[in-house]
Order: sequence, then C-alpha cells, then structure tokens
Amino acid sequence: FLMAGAFTTLPALAAKPLVIGFSQVGAESEWRTANTVSIKAAAKQAGVTLKFADAQQRQENQVKAIRSFIAQKVDVIAFSPVVESGWDTVLREAKAAKIPVILTDRDVNVADKSLYVTLIGSDFVEEGRKAGRWLVDYAKKQPGKTLNIVELQGTVGSAPAIDRKAGFDEVIKGNPQLKVLRTQTGEFTRAKGKEVMEAFLKAHGRSINVLFAHNDDMAIGAIQAIEEAGLKPGKDIAIVSIDGVRGAFEAMIAGKLNVSVECSPLLGPQLMQAAKDVVAGKPIAKRIVTEERVFPAEIAAKEFPNRKY
Ligand code: AHR
Repeated sequence: FLMAGAFTTLPALAAKPLVIGFSQVGAESEWRTANTVSIKAAAKQAGVTLKFADAQQRQENQVKAIRSFIAQKVDVIAFSPVVESGWDTVLREAKAAKIPVILTDRDVNVADKSLYVTLIGSDFVEEGRKAGRWLVDYAKKQPGKTLNIVELQGTVGSAPAIDRKAGFDEVIKGNPQLKVLRTQTGEFTRAKGKEVMEAFLKAHGRSINVLFAHNDDMAIGAIQAIEEAGLKPGKDIAIVSIDGVRGAFEAMIAGKLNVSVECSPLLGPQLMQAAKDVVAGKPIAKRIVTEERVFPAEIAAKEFPNRKY
C-alpha cells in the first residue's frame, strides 16, 4: 500500500543556470546581426542566462563590459574582440578572478595564451586565400590581361582584416596579371564601403577591373557606388567578397557580385557547449574552426533556399 504522494520527489534542488557575459563587436554588418541572433537563440535553447553587451565597434566599451562581467561574477566571459591587440591587462583581471574566457569569431594577440580557453570561429587567412584563388582562376580565363584590383579592408587592426589580407596577398603574390592599385578600410560597413569605392572610382575610374571586399556589406555598398558611376558591377568590375550573407546571394543572383567566400556567423550552439564544458572541467580544444564553403554566382540561385543567414 502506497500513501498518496509517498513517491513524489522533494522539490528538486534546481540547478543554477549558467551565466555568460558576452561582449559583441557591434551591429556593423548583416553577418554580425546573424551572429548576435545565433548567440541569443542558442543561450535561450541551452537555458543559459546571457548578459549581452554591444560595444558599438569600440574596444574601450568591450574592456568596460568585461570588467563589469568580472564584477558581476559571471560563470564565463565570452567576447568577439573588435581588434586583436590591447587585451592583456583586462584578460589578466578575468584570470585573477578565476573566470574562464572564450573567444568567438576573432582572435586576440596576447603573449600568454592561457588568458583564454578557446577560440571558436573561422580561419580568416584561409578565407583570404580562397578569395585569391578564385581571382587567379578568373584571371586565367583572360590570358595576357592585367587586372587592376582595389581592396576594401575590414576594421583596422581586427583579425579578419589582417588575416584576410594576408591570405589574399599570399595567393596573388607574383602573379603578373594581378595588380593591387589601392587598398583602404571600409570598416566592414555598407556606408563606408560605398564611400571608399566612390573615392577609388574617382581616382582610377574604368581602369579598375576587380574589387576584393573583406565582407559582403562593403561589397554591397560598393555595388551602389559602381552603378552610380555608370558601370556594371559583376561585369565591368568583378567583385569578390566574404561572408555569404543573404544580401550577397541576392546580389549574385542579380549578376552584380561574382563570388562570396563563406564565413559562418552561426557560432551560438558551439559557444554554449564550450561554456558548459569549461565549467564542468572537461578538456576543450584551444581552437575550434568553423567549416566553410565558397559560393560563386553560378550556384547562388540553387544554394539560396538553403541559406540560414
Ligand atoms: O569577424 C567577422 C567579420 O566581422 C565579418 O566578415 C564581417 O561581416 C563582420 O563585421
């Protein structure tokens, strides 16, 4: 005979939800917006309490946010660093407070690698190489022709700007057909991409054959500038960019962008898993690299329905 309620459990000692403080770069691009959505959705799904701070592209705001997370004694600090250098002091403060730090998307340049647990994100050097390889093949189809390139770099001092440039330069170096005329930052934004492309067009006009943009947003801004100058983007000027956001697929389908190298912003689930593993004391790889593809315009229409960002 069982007394009613004898086997009902005592109010379970509810597990305290994991608290992650996350400092985001800003909202400079379609990629970044998708990255924020991924992190917020994954936190919700994993039952993680997320303290989210938008740094509006300023390193000092990220440093302030990290200090505030330390003061609030969060379980894990995660951030996507605006720039690579200048993190030693604040990361030492996190280490002294025994709060593990996870980097997402972008790397930091610190002498002591024990200041962070892992970096989850893309191989930006390889993305630059992929862009360069596409261009080398494109040049091969026009033997003997010199292609003048203009380059829109990302945020000065950021890992993707430094690494994508390095990867691209490594591949095109020594190719007699490929010549970089101008390179300047467009800060990863559409507005700045347009503005700088206008200046490139003013200075070099029809002698520009190729644009290499470090992200799709700058390419999309530049497309407007090219059209306003009476030229055909994707034809008069071939355009190579990086990210693979919806806007880039639309531009490719419209024949205005030639190729986009994928850089996945969908890092939320991996971040949540890594944070849980770290807190549980499980071993974790120092580098978790995202798998990525290359999308030339020829396959854009077919791939578009599968895109998640
Ligand atoms: O760090 C990733 C880069 O930052 C993306 O390529 C770009 O769109 C974003 O702003």
